[in-house]
Amino acid sequence: MTRQKHHNAFISVEGLTYAIDGQPILSDICFEVQVGERVAVFGPSGAGKSTLIRLINRLDEPTAGMIWLNGEDYRQIPPGSLRRRLGMVMQAPNLFPGTVADNLCFGPSAHGETLTEAEIRALLSGVDLVGYENRNVSSLSGGEAQRVNLARTLANKPEALLLDEPTSALDQAAKNEVEETIKAIIKSQNMTFILVTHDRAQVERLAERVLLLEAGQLVADGSVKEVLDARSVD
Ligand SMILES: Nc1ncnc2c1ncn2[C@@H]1O[C@H](COP(=O)(O)OP(=O)(O)O)[C@@H](O)[C@H]1O
Ligand SMILES: [Mg+2]
Repeated sequence: MTRQKHHNAFISVEGLTYAIDGQPILSDICFEVQVGERVAVFGPSGAGKSTLIRLINRLDEPTAGMIWLNGEDYRQIPPGSLRRRLGMVMQAPNLFPGTVADNLCFGPSAHGETLTEAEIRALLSGVDLVGYENRNVSSLSGGEAQRVNLARTLANKPEALLLDEPTSALDQAAKNEVEETIKAIIKSQNMTFILVTHDRAQVERLAERVLLLEAGQLVADGSVKEVLDARSVD
């Protein structure tokens, strides 16, 4: 019998390879993510975690391999649409100058949608920032800015979040705030996410499954307990 893959998972990554000047950064990465799964990409600095998430968001083009989104070849999806569907949140919030509301409205307005005041209130409530509409972003703490960043990404109604070390630039108190916000989003929206982190305790707090990356190779894929128990260091 011929082996046939149907790529009917939510995200299906097959044989994903990325090289720069012939140097492999990621080698033959294969995994699938189902709707509602909370997946951590865990591994040491330089393992290729950010590269993997950038490839999924089509910020870089793979050297080889493929990605399917709901069975569709991701290259058939216009990049702007792909990036709204898979909302990326990076380490630094990089908010635009202006108010919190300006930042929330920017993404929807870029594709012809206007957020109502009620929608803005709901987004802010979801990240525990009720009443922050007219605050200038320059006045926000690090944790508040990252929560606005999350709300700004959610304003695009993504099907999943791609979070790249969303708390590594924050102090412990701000990190707790952002983790609590991520937990609330998971609970209220059953949000699928891929969370890149090198923080083992964060994996245990937020994820149910771990992809362990080392030197560009996917060396383990399993439940948090299976993968982390088998690994003594970190
Ligand atoms: N533009 C680039 N040019 C050369 N090397 C790069 C580039 N981007 C990433 N790398 C290398 O690829 C490897 C993986 O990087 P990255 O995906 O950022 O790892 P991680 O997010 O796990 O820390 C590292 O060795 C890094 O130095
Ligand atoms: Mg990184």
